[in-house]
Amino acid sequence: MLTSHEIRKRFLDFFASERHVVLDSASLVTEDASGDTDATLFNTAGMQPLIPYLLGKEHPEGRRLASSQKCVRTTDLEDVGDATHATFFEMLGNWSLGDYFKQDAIRWSWEFLTNKDKGLGLDSSRLYVTVFAGNDSVERDDEAANIWKQYVPEHRIYYLDSRSNWWKAGDNSPAGPSTEMFYDVTGELGDMSHEEFLRADKEQKVVEIWNDVFMVYKLKGGEVEGMLPQKNVDTGAGLERVTAVVQGATSIYETDIYEHLLARISAATPHLDALRPKRIVADHIRTAVFLVGDGIKPSNTDRGYVLRRIIRRMVNNMNILEMNCDITELIDIVIEKYGQVYLNLDKKKDIIIAVISQEVLKYKKTLERGKKEFQKLAQKNNTRITGQELAILEQTHGFPAELSLDLAEEFGVRIEPHAFDEYKKLTEQHQKKSRAGAEQKFKGGLAGNSEMEIRYHTATHLLHQALRDVLGNHVMQKGSNITPERMRSDFSHNNKMTDEEIHRVEFIVNEKIQEGLSVSFQTVSLEEAQNSGALGLFEDRYEDRLDLYQIGSGDGMYSLEICGGPHVSNTKELGVFKIIKEEALGSGVRRIKAVLS
Ligand code: SER
Repeated sequence: MLTSHEIRKRFLDFFASERHVVLDSASLVTEDASGDTDATLFNTAGMQPLIPYLLGKEHPEGRRLASSQKCVRTTDLEDVGDATHATFFEMLGNWSLGDYFKQDAIRWSWEFLTNKDKGLGLDSSRLYVTVFAGNDSVERDDEAANIWKQYVPEHRIYYLDSRSNWWKAGDNSPAGPSTEMFYDVTGELGDMSHEEFLRADKEQKVVEIWNDVFMVYKLKGGEVEGMLPQKNVDTGAGLERVTAVVQGATSIYETDIYEHLLARISAATPHLDALRPKRIVADHIRTAVFLVGDGIKPSNTDRGYVLRRIIRRMVNNMNILEMNCDITELIDIVIEKYGQVYLNLDKKKDIIIAVISQEVLKYKKTLERGKKEFQKLAQKNNTRITGQELAILEQTHGFPAELSLDLAEEFGVRIEPHAFDEYKKLTEQHQKKSRAGAEQKFKGGLAGNSEMEIRYHTATHLLHQALRDVLGNHVMQKGSNITPERMRSDFSHNNKMTDEEIHRVEFIVNEKIQEGLSVSFQTVSLEEAQNSGALGLFEDRYEDRLDLYQIGSGDGMYSLEICGGPHVSNTKELGVFKIIKEEALGSGVRRIKAVLS
């Protein structure tokens, strides 16, 4: 049986023998490190480092390339631990930059999948393919289907629409129709009608193992704008999935890839059947090792925040498992497995161990502090802990809700009925938003959601005032940009905000949200507005009458600001506020990105 290392090697050797230059994997960190929401945080597909070349730039290594690219995707974090999801994976790929096209691409895919000596030797009677069914701007891919007929019976070629067989790197990117290869993992399916095939896919009886994209179009705003200067091929096959298929495993976690890690984890826990937490620990330590290996350090923003979340989730799951095992041992196992393939891991072993161990320790201290925050809450008179408080403890203090529930039981503290459901709802919303912030953009972004944008409008006012409370009254808002996924505020301030200042601002905004302040407005004259002491941009105003928005009333008034609205009617509607990035925009101007959940 081929190991994952052998599969990777066979793939690269196969394409080298077809005159492809084998590239080293690019770093997980994308070149465009601006951290802007339009850029992605990590490489999430093999083609991503090649985008400029797919667009026409000349590649120094030529026009036939292949690689096994390290990828990190956290869009499906909650699914990690099922049969097919992992946060770190490798993508095998071969590319033609204006060189060969459909005929060769399909032939080589077929040969590599089925050839026993040079490829994977998969049973050709268990393979199925899909091709693009066409849409208003691009015709049905009969050309690909006709080529496939040389290898696969015609009734095993299915035409599917752009939801499955159209691939784009983003809304302003190279794109094209694709053809995908599927393998019958049950070995029992035989010939299937179109409907039967779709059902088998849904039930994961067939698994997609390779995607060949014929990248010839350039998109603008999600629409085909025209043709690229050259006809490209971009293929991608997930090494973990391919390994599972080759090894006849029912999940990626039952392949050689995770074997030693899971064995060590299992030996360190008394919980024999806690499959999911074990897989999460295995996946997350692997991802953490690779992220630190590529120079990422835990922090509260962008990539560092992703790493921090992954390490924290790992520790939480280690706690669930009551694991008795030094984290260094797990790191060693990952580096032992991959050290020969990714040489940076061996070289940076000491740093990787130091960074991850320190973060684990730090998080354990956070958990201790979180416990104290919890106790403070618990001591409030007549209080019952709400779902929102569970979410704040988790998102602001890093103290997981499950642990709050355990403590509540320990201390005999009451919890609001349905608090956990409310917490889950808030967390789900939060996750959707943070996903949207980064990788999701890469796949085309989410649809608009004005309700969310309204919440962000109101949160912007709270943030503005909280920044003035914490940093001083020199803070003036210089700009604001809101999408359904996040808010961005630019403001005048000379220094980088400290972690402490960021936490205080977050704390104040969350406090004001929790106080359930009413939001109201009155229409006043420009002069009245100026005399009221309200915040807001007066310079460009030419209207006679302005809306003056007020958050809180009477002595409890927290913010007064000129604004066109619209706003929520009560701050309770905002959920939980979190700053995800603080950075310099220019001299004396800082930029904050924040999310609500
Ligand atoms: N870009 C395509 C994918 O990621 C093929 O490489 O599936």
